[in-house]
Parts: sequence; structure tokens; C-alpha cells
Amino acid sequence: MTTLNDYFQSYLTATSSDSSSEKSAVIDVINTITTVGKEITELLRKGALADIHGEAGAENVQGEQQKKLDVIANDLLLDALTANKHCAGVASEELDDATPANESGELLVLFDPLDGSSNIDINMPTGTIFSILPHNNKGQAVTNADFLQKGTEQLAAGYLLYGSSAMLAFTFSDALDSNNDGVILFSLNPTTGEFELVKKNISIDADTKEYAINASNARHWLPPMQQYINELLAGTTGPRGKNFNTRWVAAMVGDVHRILCRGGIFIYPKDTKDPSKAGKLRLMYEANPMSLLIERAGGASTDAINRIMDYEPTDIHQRVPVVLGAKNEVEQVQKLHQQA
Ligand code: AHG
Ligand code: MN
Ligand code: MN
Repeated sequence: MTTLNDYFQSYLTATSSDSSSEKSAVIDVINTITTVGKEITELLRKGALADIHGEAGAENVQGEQQKKLDVIANDLLLDALTANKHCAGVASEELDDATPANESGELLVLFDPLDGSSNIDINMPTGTIFSILPHNNKGQAVTNADFLQKGTEQLAAGYLLYGSSAMLAFTFSDALDSNNDGVILFSLNPTTGEFELVKKNISIDADTKEYAINASNARHWLPPMQQYINELLAGTTGPRGKNFNTRWVAAMVGDVHRILCRGGIFIYPKDTKDPSKAGKLRLMYEANPMSLLIERAGGASTDAINRIMDYEPTDIHQRVPVVLGAKNEVEQVQKLHQQA
């Protein structure tokens, strides 16, 4: 049995001294996030008894109703991370602007404190998504602009999944992955309160028969996306010549977790419902961290045409269409969009 602490110890031992301070800073921040994740797990286990269900009575900067647990999870992460000496600042789905933390900190942390908010009140899976970036203006108080770095700049990213068990998945950037472990999965042992290693080097098959999309928006999708899904629905009688199955968790973190465990494709496409929005999901604390995980596991992550991690961000709350998972399916989506 390898605990998260054991894993981090062996990781640091394998690390050359030139990059060790950055690596131990990243580890320290991940430890802070997982400590909060255990608190959120406890709250979710108590559920209605902990008074975490229902609306908080406010809206976030994106005009979405905040749930009580959105606010609680955000406050827990905000307090813990701003107290971490390596953290120069945080940005969250639930906060209009970046919050400065420690000026001597070398890292920026972005998070979706509670992904899948509509699942909270019905005891369905939710999660916390995080992305860790370097603070390139060390010694200066952070501004929103400091966070506007491409997904390829991420030092590490991951999520906590609050499902029937609590799990932690994370990956370091290629440059920081001294053990070459790729995407790593831990499970929280409820008896000891420790995360224990389940799997390293998670790999996503290039092909799949499983897809996730909210089909209630079908009439608003662009024609190439309608064509792609119609071809899947046609099964053995259509051009794809095989049957596909739908799975939709209604929390990106759950759908991405399923893809890391057994493959598939997840899509939240651009649609014409609200022309002011490029997509539903947020680039900086949903799409980029999930893209790092998916790519490091051998999958692909695009906006239907372009690689998500190559986006030059313009806003910390920017939205982006998302098509990620099994490489050959993501390429099929790209092909139909390029032909259109
Ligand atoms: P959040 O709860 O952080 O706002 O994110 C919810 C997102 C994502 O997790 C999920 O895939 C999607 O919204 C579900 O959207 P639908 O309303 O279309 O089900
Ligand atoms: Mn979310
Ligand atoms: Mn959220």
C-alpha cells in the first residue's frame, strides 16, 4: 500500500536538485487541496444533516445560482490555499477576480471548487478541479492577467471526485514528472483518512463505443456536431458500422473520471442557444486541467477543431467548447468540423 505521502516522498527522491524546490512547492499545494477535499468528502457524507443542500441565495460572476456547497467548498479552498506559503494567488469559478495570497509564493492555483453543482442535492457525483501554474511575476501581488497562461504552461492539474468513494487523480506536466508516472489515481481510505495509490500511467484507448453529451441541446448544435452524433446514433445501420452507448454524469469531473477508467468521449459543444457564450465549460479551471489529464493519458482534447491547451486565454472565466477523450473519436469530430 502506497499512501499519497509515500508517493510524494519517492517522487522527491527521484528529483534532481535543480527542480526540487518547484516540485516540492507543487506537492505542498496538492496536499493542501487534498486536505480540503477530505473536509468536503465529510460534508457530502453527512449530506442534508450538514445543511449543505440547497441554494446559497446568490449568483456567481457568470450569473449562475450558487449552491450552499459551492460557497462552502470555495471558502475552504480559498482559506487553505491563501495560507499556503507557495501560493501567490488563487482564481475560482465562484470569485469574480483573482485573490492575492503570498507575494513570495511561486505558484498560482485555479479551481472549480464544486463541479456538478446540480448533483449535490441528489447524492450524485461531484468533484473539485484544480490547475497549478507558475507565478511569473514573483514578488508582486497577483492580478487577473498573471493567470492568463496557456494550458501547456500548467505544472500540474487534477481533480477530487466525490463519488461512491472519494478519489484523487492528478498529473504533473511532462517536465515535472520525474517518475514518468503520467496520470495517477488515488482512493481515500475512509478508515485511515489517507489517500492510497490505485493506479499509475492511466491510458485511454484510442477507440470507444461510449459517448457523453447533453442531447437536450441537440437542436442548438452546429451542423457538424449534429452529424457526428447522428452517425453514432445510427449504430450498425450507419456509416460508423457499430453501436454506441450514452453515459452522462452531469458533472464533467465524473465523465472525465469514467473516460480515464474505461475510455469514451465527452462533449460539451458550442451551440447557438446563447450567441454570447463560446461554450458552457470554463477554460481555466475546467477545460485546461482536464485537457492536461486527458492528453497525458494518451487522449486528445479540442474545442472540436483546435487543441484546448493552445488557447491564449483572455479572461479567467472564459468559456470554451470541449471535445475530449478517445483520440480517434476526437479526430472524427475534428474531421467533420474541418469539412464543414
Ligand atoms: P458547475 O457545476 O461547476 O457549474 O459545472 C457544471 C458543468 C459540468 O460539470 C457539466 O458537464 C455541465 O455543467 C452540465 O451541464 P448541463 O446543465 O448541460 O447538464
Ligand atoms: Mn464545473
Ligand atoms: Mn463549480
